[in-house]
Amino acid sequence: MDVRMNDCAGVDWAEVDATLERVGMAHHGPELVRKAFEASRVVVFLYEGGRLAGFGRAISDGAYQAAIYDVAVQPEFQGRGLGRQVVQAILNELPGCSVILYASPGKEDFYRKLGFRRMRTGMARFTLGQAMADKGFTD
Ligand SMILES: CC(C)(COP(=O)(O)OP(=O)(O)OC[C@H]1O[C@@H](n2cnc3c(N)ncnc32)[C@H](O)[C@@H]1OP(=O)(O)O)[C@@H](O)C(=O)NCCC(=O)NCCS
Repeated sequence: MDVRMNDCAGVDWAEVDATLERVGMAHHGPELVRKAFEASRVVVFLYEGGRLAGFGRAISDGAYQAAIYDVAVQPEFQGRGLGRQVVQAILNELPGCSVILYASPGKEDFYRKLGFRRMRTGMARFTLGQAMADKGFTD
């Protein structure tokens, strides 16, 4: 497994965007995805045999707060510990930071196993508010 940390050089953003779509996550097109990853404090890409297997990113002040986004593993690579590896690699880059995220419905226990706990007072102002409510992210 080739782990690339904080290195966006040579990334196929169309493939990243297509992967997000494939696994049922929000996707915004290759250009916006590139912008988001390049502006993130931590990015991780996993490659196996030259193939993009999984990725994730975090935005952070680098001091005490961070948020994880866009964690995805290609379906054919799922269930082999890669998702855990992506999240752990991100956390390793964020010492001293509290880390928040919103899990896709049904993925909560994946994050629970990585030490995350359900937030009781989380509030979100999503751009696509109704769509996010329809998907079960908000009330
Ligand atoms: C969620 C996702 C990243 C997990 O990646 P993965 O490589 O399949 O997960 P791992 O093999 O690293 O699993 C690590 C642990 O979490 C568990 N786990 C994985 N997915 C789970 C789920 N949906 N619910 C509960 N537990 C889960 C595994 O059983 C494993 O447990 P173990 O350590 O006790 O064996 C992957 O399924 C995915 O990309 N899904 C689609 C996109 C998505 O929903 N991303 C998360 C957005 S919030």
